[in-house]
Amino acid sequence: MYFFDARLVGRADLIGVEPARFSIGYWLAEAHTGRGIATAALDALIDFARSNSDAAEIYTGVTHGNRASEALLVRLGFEPTDTFDSYTRFRLSLRRGMIDCAT
Ligand SMILES: CC(C)(COP(=O)(O)OP(=O)(O)OC[C@H]1O[C@@H](n2cnc3c(N)ncnc32)[C@H](O)[C@@H]1OP(=O)(O)O)[C@@H](O)C(=O)NCCC(=O)NCCS
Repeated sequence: MYFFDARLVGRADLIGVEPARFSIGYWLAEAHTGRGIATAALDALIDFARSNSDAAEIYTGVTHGNRASEALLVRLGFEPTDTFDSYTRFRLSLRRGMIDCAT
């Protein structure tokens, strides 16, 4: 959860799907967008996931047209991997410097 002046302004969750696989969810109150708060919060969650030696990747889905969410993920190093009718799946590999065979 993110707080500004002791008020809740957003939230980011790292969700374990399988031992090596995580998902993320996030939102920010509109009045607090555009300042990098979500980027900083997700960056901290990604660091936390990386510190788990079993963690290999993070996936999430973004509804088509949600440009702010897509920009946020790309800023953090996620890449689009699959396109479905209503959303695009993004993926981030957590294994720096290793050959990554997942597709
Ligand atoms: C998705 C969501 C969290 C993105 O919010 P956001 O404000 O764009 O993200 P950040 O807090 O990281 O801010 C990034 C913006 O701040 C700017 N910024 C300023 N300082 C920054 C910094 N130190 N670091 C990164 N960005 C910074 C960036 O340039 C960017 O501006 P832009 O929107 O003009 O390109 C928000 O739009 C939201 O809550 N949407 C509704 C819920 C939702 O869609 N959730 C995701 C479902 S998939």
